[in-house]
Amino acid sequence: MADATELLDTGERLGPGELRQLQLERLRTSLRHAYDHVPFYRESFDQAGVRPEDCRSLADLARFPFTTKADLRENYPYGMFAVPRERIRRLHASSGTTGRPTVVGYTDNDLSMWADMVARSIRAAGGRPGDIVHVAYGYGLFTGGLGAHYGAERLGCTVVPASGGMTARQVQLIQDLRPSVIMVTPSYMLTLLDEFERQGVDPRGTSLRVGIFGAEPWTEQMRGEIEERFAIDAVDIYGLSEVIGPGVAQECVETKDGLTVWEDHFYPEVVDPITGEVLPEGERGELVFTSLTKEAMPVIRYRTRDLTRLLPGTARAFRRMEKITGRSDDMVILRGVNLFPTQIEEIVLRTPGVAPHFQLRLTREGRLDRLTVRAEARADAGPRTRDAAARSIAAAVKDGVGVSVDVEIVAPESLERSVGKIRRIVDLRGRDAG
Ligand code: DLL
Repeated sequence: MADATELLDTGERLGPGELRQLQLERLRTSLRHAYDHVPFYRESFDQAGVRPEDCRSLADLARFPFTTKADLRENYPYGMFAVPRERIRRLHASSGTTGRPTVVGYTDNDLSMWADMVARSIRAAGGRPGDIVHVAYGYGLFTGGLGAHYGAERLGCTVVPASGGMTARQVQLIQDLRPSVIMVTPSYMLTLLDEFERQGVDPRGTSLRVGIFGAEPWTEQMRGEIEERFAIDAVDIYGLSEVIGPGVAQECVETKDGLTVWEDHFYPEVVDPITGEVLPEGERGELVFTSLTKEAMPVIRYRTRDLTRLLPGTARAFRRMEKITGRSDDMVILRGVNLFPTQIEEIVLRTPGVAPHFQLRLTREGRLDRLTVRAEARADAGPRTRDAAARSIAAAVKDGVGVSVDVEIVAPESLERSVGKIRRIVDLRGRDAG
């Protein structure tokens, strides 16, 4: 690969002092913009007794109130916008699995900044102008497809807008059009893997070189599995609609050591999820973002509910965030023990005889919650291997997480496959008679 530093954009070349200076200027502008144009922010700042001009250093940001998903819902659909509706060029919306969806908006400048950040992300992942990029994130209200698409175009790539679904055709397209980069959720990549095998096509023999995976938590074990089965580099991309979409942070292919936060546009903090106190670098907590340059929908101290920690930069001067272990929403509390689906993923993926497909089923018996790990057997695993796998998973969860779970090894191909973001937890507790 050519010397990657030659390819850095101006933002990425900032030294730490210049970066802090730029962040402070942008932060002050963003606070002012939010306060002047969004009644919600005016009220929340007033209530907290702070004014935009009180922010004289980056540390002063901690004096400003948080913004939550509930705030966005209450101001649905256009209440959080800081520009007249006519200047909004595009809308996206979150899936809204619970209650009202949240709507986000972009001006022309926002769309351009977003494309720049995704272009930067693809480049950090090892993509180059001229590459063919297969985008299998869903197109539509979800930010994955269109976000990846415009970023790849901005970098100067040829884009295949495959979107999610029609899995057999995706495999055909990958063989015929010969992309070198694929952008897709890690769980859908596994669905594609099954399809390659079903069609008798060697997944290691494709033109793909790099996979840019995100939109859901995934583990180092999953990286190992995907890299090995497809013979590609697998790197992590992070983002959320409220902040912009994909391209808030990206793992650099040369280090694969967590995600570089594009903090010239998105200012990160990690806070104690209970007290809200800002935690020192290196401590795990909830990730919070403040947008520094967004026009249509500035977000001030937005609580992502994603759990991670901030680390010093390596491949870039910007800080990194550790791979996300989970969301506070996905945390299962089982008899007092906190459990994340990623902990189960690590265990399932290193267990012989089971495929990398699993689901967590929560039920209630009397007052007791039960968790059943349902993992799929590999086609070549006989009854003994399956029994051994069930025992081994249960023991590893007991040892590693500290709680007893039931394990069911189900038939090959029997668990629902992902076409986008996977849902790991099936919560049947409300439905049990008890
Ligand atoms: O998932 C944006 C995106 C699209 C990111 C494509 C990366 C690739 P939302 O639908 O708003 O936006 O969901 C955001 O997804 O708060 C995290 O909980 C989760 N998430 C996104 N990326 C990652 C990742 C898009 N790399 C929510 N690792 C976020 C873990 C992720 N979780």
